[in-house]
Amino acid sequence: MFESFYQTLEELLIVPVVVLDDEADAAPLADALMAAGMRSAEVTFRTAAAAGSIRAMRAAHPDMHAGAGTVLTVEQVDEALAAGAEFIVAPGFDAEVVSHCIERGVPVLPGTVTPTEVGSARKLGLTVTKFFPAAQYGGLGTIAALCAPFVGHRFMPTGGVSKENLGSYLGSPDIIAVGGTWMVKPALFAGGDFSRVCELAAEAMAAARAARG
Ligand code: 3PG
Repeated sequence: MFESFYQTLEELLIVPVVVLDDEADAAPLADALMAAGMRSAEVTFRTAAAAGSIRAMRAAHPDMHAGAGTVLTVEQVDEALAAGAEFIVAPGFDAEVVSHCIERGVPVLPGTVTPTEVGSARKLGLTVTKFFPAAQYGGLGTIAALCAPFVGHRFMPTGGVSKENLGSYLGSPDIIAVGGTWMVKPALFAGGDFSRVCELAAEAMAAARAARG
Protein backbone atom coordinates (compact mmCIF):
# COMPACT_ATOMS: atom_id res chain seq x y z
CA MET A 1 0.00 0.00 0.00
CA PHE A 2 1.17 3.54 -0.87
CA GLU A 3 4.37 2.23 -2.48
CA SER A 4 4.47 4.92 -5.16
CA PHE A 5 4.09 7.65 -2.54
CA TYR A 6 6.90 6.09 -0.49
CA GLN A 7 9.07 6.17 -3.61
CA THR A 8 8.25 9.86 -4.05
CA LEU A 9 9.07 10.56 -0.41
CA GLU A 10 12.42 8.87 -0.80
CA GLU A 11 13.20 11.13 -3.74
CA LEU A 12 11.98 14.30 -1.99
CA LEU A 13 14.48 13.80 0.87
CA ILE A 14 13.11 16.76 2.86
CA VAL A 15 9.48 17.74 3.45
CA PRO A 16 9.20 21.32 4.75
CA VAL A 17 6.64 21.69 7.54
CA VAL A 18 4.74 24.88 6.83
CA VAL A 19 2.61 26.92 9.25
CA LEU A 20 0.89 29.76 7.42
CA ASP A 21 -1.39 32.40 8.91
CA ASP A 22 -2.13 33.99 5.56
CA GLU A 23 -2.91 31.89 2.51
CA ALA A 24 -1.63 34.73 0.31
CA ASP A 25 1.87 33.59 1.33
CA ALA A 26 1.30 30.05 0.00
CA ALA A 27 1.98 30.60 -3.71
CA PRO A 28 5.17 32.68 -3.29
CA LEU A 29 6.39 30.21 -0.67
CA ALA A 30 5.78 27.37 -3.11
CA ASP A 31 7.65 29.33 -5.81
CA ALA A 32 10.67 29.69 -3.49
CA LEU A 33 10.67 26.02 -2.48
CA MET A 34 10.28 24.77 -6.04
CA ALA A 35 13.08 27.08 -7.24
CA ALA A 36 15.30 25.51 -4.57
CA GLY A 37 14.43 21.98 -5.68
CA MET A 38 12.37 21.30 -2.56
CA ARG A 39 9.31 19.98 -4.32
CA SER A 40 6.88 19.37 -1.48
CA ALA A 41 5.22 20.97 1.51
CA GLU A 42 3.38 19.66 4.53
CA VAL A 43 0.91 22.45 5.26
CA THR A 44 -0.20 22.12 8.85
CA PHE A 45 -3.79 22.38 10.01
CA ARG A 46 -2.62 24.43 12.98
CA THR A 47 -4.05 27.52 11.32
CA ALA A 48 -7.28 28.35 9.55
CA ALA A 49 -5.30 29.15 6.40
CA ALA A 50 -4.22 25.51 5.86
CA ALA A 51 -6.78 24.31 3.31
CA GLY A 52 -6.64 27.56 1.33
CA SER A 53 -2.85 27.38 1.33
CA ILE A 54 -2.83 23.84 -0.06
CA ARG A 55 -5.28 24.93 -2.76
CA ALA A 56 -3.09 27.92 -3.66
CA MET A 57 0.07 25.80 -3.83
CA ARG A 58 -1.61 23.21 -6.06
CA ALA A 59 -2.87 25.97 -8.35
CA ALA A 60 0.54 27.63 -8.59
CA HIS A 61 2.49 24.38 -8.96
CA PRO A 62 0.39 21.37 -9.97
CA ASP A 63 3.55 19.23 -9.94
CA MET A 64 4.40 20.11 -6.34
CA HIS A 65 3.67 17.47 -3.70
CA ALA A 66 1.47 19.45 -1.33
CA GLY A 67 0.06 17.60 1.64
CA ALA A 68 -1.60 18.33 4.95
CA GLY A 69 0.02 18.13 8.38
CA THR A 70 -1.21 18.19 11.97
CA VAL A 71 -4.35 16.37 10.81
CA LEU A 72 -6.19 15.29 13.95
CA THR A 73 -9.71 14.42 12.78
CA VAL A 74 -11.48 12.67 9.91
CA GLU A 75 -13.16 15.99 9.09
CA GLN A 76 -9.74 17.57 8.56
CA VAL A 77 -8.78 14.65 6.29
CA ASP A 78 -11.82 15.40 4.13
CA GLU A 79 -11.11 19.13 4.17
CA ALA A 80 -7.49 18.52 3.16
CA LEU A 81 -8.53 16.19 0.34
CA ALA A 82 -11.08 18.69 -0.94
CA ALA A 83 -8.25 21.24 -1.09
CA GLY A 84 -6.12 18.86 -3.15
CA ALA A 85 -3.79 17.41 -0.51
CA GLU A 86 -1.72 14.54 -1.88
CA PHE A 87 -0.82 13.09 1.52
CA ILE A 88 -1.81 13.38 5.16
CA VAL A 89 0.53 13.69 8.15
CA ALA A 90 -0.50 13.43 11.79
CA PRO A 91 1.58 14.02 14.93
CA GLY A 92 0.33 10.85 16.60
CA PHE A 93 -1.37 7.56 15.79
CA ASP A 94 -5.17 7.69 15.64
CA ALA A 95 -6.64 4.48 14.17
CA GLU A 96 -9.82 6.25 13.08
CA VAL A 97 -7.92 8.92 11.14
CA VAL A 98 -5.54 6.37 9.60
CA SER A 99 -8.39 4.04 8.57
CA HIS A 100 -10.29 6.93 7.03
CA CYS A 101 -7.23 7.90 4.96
CA ILE A 102 -6.83 4.29 3.80
CA GLU A 103 -10.51 4.11 2.84
CA ARG A 104 -10.14 7.33 0.88
CA GLY A 105 -6.94 6.06 -0.73
CA VAL A 106 -4.71 8.88 0.46
CA PRO A 107 -1.23 8.11 1.80
CA VAL A 108 -1.01 8.81 5.53
CA LEU A 109 2.00 9.23 7.79
CA PRO A 110 0.89 9.04 11.43
CA GLY A 111 3.39 9.75 14.18
CA THR A 112 4.66 6.62 15.96
CA VAL A 113 7.37 6.60 18.63
CA THR A 114 6.71 3.38 20.59
CA PRO A 115 6.65 -0.31 19.63
CA THR A 116 2.92 -0.36 20.33
CA GLU A 117 2.26 2.55 18.00
CA VAL A 118 4.48 1.19 15.22
CA GLY A 119 2.77 -2.19 15.61
CA SER A 120 -0.67 -0.58 15.36
CA ALA A 121 0.31 1.28 12.20
CA ARG A 122 1.71 -1.88 10.63
CA LYS A 123 -1.43 -3.80 11.51
CA LEU A 124 -3.30 -1.32 9.30
CA GLY A 125 -0.80 -1.91 6.49
CA LEU A 126 1.56 1.05 6.85
CA THR A 127 5.28 0.46 6.45
CA VAL A 128 6.36 4.10 6.78
CA THR A 129 5.40 6.44 9.62
CA LYS A 130 6.43 9.78 11.04
CA PHE A 131 8.67 9.88 14.12
CA PHE A 132 7.76 12.95 16.14
CA PRO A 133 9.11 14.75 18.09
CA ALA A 134 12.30 13.07 16.95
CA ALA A 135 14.84 14.83 19.17
CA GLN A 136 12.86 14.34 22.38
CA TYR A 137 12.15 10.66 21.63
CA GLY A 138 15.76 9.68 21.08
CA GLY A 139 16.34 10.33 17.38
CA LEU A 140 18.24 7.76 15.38
CA GLY A 141 19.03 5.56 18.39
CA THR A 142 15.34 4.95 19.10
CA ILE A 143 14.56 4.58 15.40
CA ALA A 144 17.24 1.89 14.96
CA ALA A 145 15.93 0.05 18.02
CA LEU A 146 12.37 0.14 16.66
CA CYS A 147 13.46 -1.04 13.21
CA ALA A 148 15.11 -4.15 14.69
CA PRO A 149 11.83 -5.96 15.44
CA PHE A 150 9.80 -4.11 12.79
CA VAL A 151 11.93 -5.29 9.90
CA GLY A 152 11.68 -3.04 6.87
CA HIS A 153 9.81 -0.26 8.66
CA ARG A 154 10.99 3.26 7.78
CA PHE A 155 10.47 6.64 9.40
CA MET A 156 10.17 10.30 8.50
CA PRO A 157 11.57 12.09 11.58
CA THR A 158 10.47 15.64 12.36
CA GLY A 159 11.01 17.79 15.42
CA GLY A 160 14.54 19.01 15.95
CA VAL A 161 15.77 18.12 12.46
CA SER A 162 18.18 20.79 11.19
CA LYS A 163 20.74 21.53 8.50
CA GLU A 164 23.35 20.24 10.96
CA ASN A 165 21.83 16.82 11.67
CA LEU A 166 19.83 15.99 8.53
CA GLY A 167 22.87 14.24 7.04
CA SER A 168 23.07 11.72 9.84
CA TYR A 169 19.34 10.99 9.60
CA LEU A 170 19.38 10.59 5.82
CA GLY A 171 22.49 8.42 6.00
CA SER A 172 20.48 5.78 7.83
CA PRO A 173 18.60 3.12 5.83
CA ASP A 174 15.77 3.42 8.37
CA ILE A 175 14.98 6.97 7.23
CA ILE A 176 12.86 7.58 4.13
CA ALA A 177 12.96 11.40 4.35
CA VAL A 178 13.12 14.09 7.01
CA GLY A 179 10.80 16.99 7.81
CA GLY A 180 11.24 20.33 9.50
CA THR A 181 10.36 23.97 9.74
CA TRP A 182 13.76 25.65 9.74
CA MET A 183 13.70 26.82 6.09
CA VAL A 184 10.07 28.00 6.13
CA LYS A 185 9.76 29.88 9.43
CA PRO A 186 7.29 32.77 8.90
CA ALA A 187 9.88 35.24 10.26
CA LEU A 188 12.04 34.50 7.20
CA PHE A 189 9.45 36.00 4.84
CA ALA A 190 7.69 38.47 7.14
CA GLY A 191 8.58 41.34 4.79
CA GLY A 192 7.27 39.53 1.71
CA ASP A 193 10.74 38.56 0.50
CA PHE A 194 11.04 34.80 0.04
CA SER A 195 14.68 34.77 -1.08
CA ARG A 196 16.00 33.59 2.30
CA VAL A 197 13.59 30.63 2.17
CA CYS A 198 14.97 29.75 -1.25
CA GLU A 199 18.58 29.97 0.00
CA LEU A 200 17.98 27.84 3.10
CA ALA A 201 15.97 25.28 1.14
CA ALA A 202 18.67 25.00 -1.53
CA GLU A 203 21.37 24.58 1.15
CA ALA A 204 19.31 21.89 2.83
CA MET A 205 18.73 20.02 -0.43
CA ALA A 206 22.45 20.10 -1.20
CA ALA A 207 23.23 18.64 2.26
CA ALA A 208 20.52 16.01 1.82
CA ARG A 209 21.76 14.91 -1.59
CA ALA A 210 25.33 14.71 -0.28
CA ALA A 211 24.17 12.53 2.62
CA ARG A 212 22.32 10.11 0.36
CA GLY A 213 25.25 10.00 -2.05
C1 3PG B 1 6.34 19.13 13.11
O1 3PG B 1 5.21 19.47 13.23
O2 3PG B 1 6.65 18.14 12.43
C2 3PG B 1 7.37 19.90 13.84
O3 3PG B 1 6.84 21.05 14.39
C3 3PG B 1 8.59 20.23 13.08
O4 3PG B 1 9.53 20.47 14.05
P1 3PG B 1 10.71 21.54 13.92
O5 3PG B 1 10.06 22.89 14.12
O6 3PG B 1 11.65 21.19 15.06
O7 3PG B 1 11.34 21.40 12.58
